[in-house]
Amino acid sequence: MSGWRAAQFAPVFFGLFCGAVLSTASASAQMALPSPKPVDGATLFKQQCGVCHTMSSAEPMRQGPPLSKVVGRRAGSIEGFRYSAGFAKADFAWDEAKLDAWLSNPQELIPGAVMAYRQAKPDVRAAIINYLKDN
Ligand code: HEC
Repeated sequence: MSGWRAAQFAPVFFGLFCGAVLSTASASAQMALPSPKPVDGATLFKQQCGVCHTMSSAEPMRQGPPLSKVVGRRAGSIEGFRYSAGFAKADFAWDEAKLDAWLSNPQELIPGAVMAYRQAKPDVRAAIINYLKDN
């Protein structure tokens, strides 16, 4: 009698078991997908600008001028830094739009600029510019 019952219910249990395994398997497969990296402006700045720029005028200058408080500052206005000739005609203060254009293609904004850097990704530029606004 009990053997008959077991035979009747076994497929049901088997089905439930498989369903449970499959659903946990697909849940963990989803969790295993690489989560998108948060774009951290400070880290990006360190990695992509830090070789040439400091964030403090107290530190010795590198290849480029220090960038602390650059948002709102007139282009080419760091005393003692020898800018390329085009900066003499750069009659503007750095804001988000100018920085975005500069990081996309420095030479297009200021002809003859000698900054060897270009960033094609808008989200990376935005994260770095946000960091500059706060520092
Ligand atoms: C390979 C070195 C190098 C890297 C990397 C670099 N820069 Fe520059 N940057 C320079 C140089 C050199 C200048 C001066 C350009 C000139 O005189 O033509 C400059 C100038 C600037 C200026 C103008 C500053 C002023 O006083 O008007 C800004 C803003 C700037 N860089 C931002 C950045 C940011 C933000 C990054 C990173 C995303 C970066 N730079 C990466 C070398 C670099």
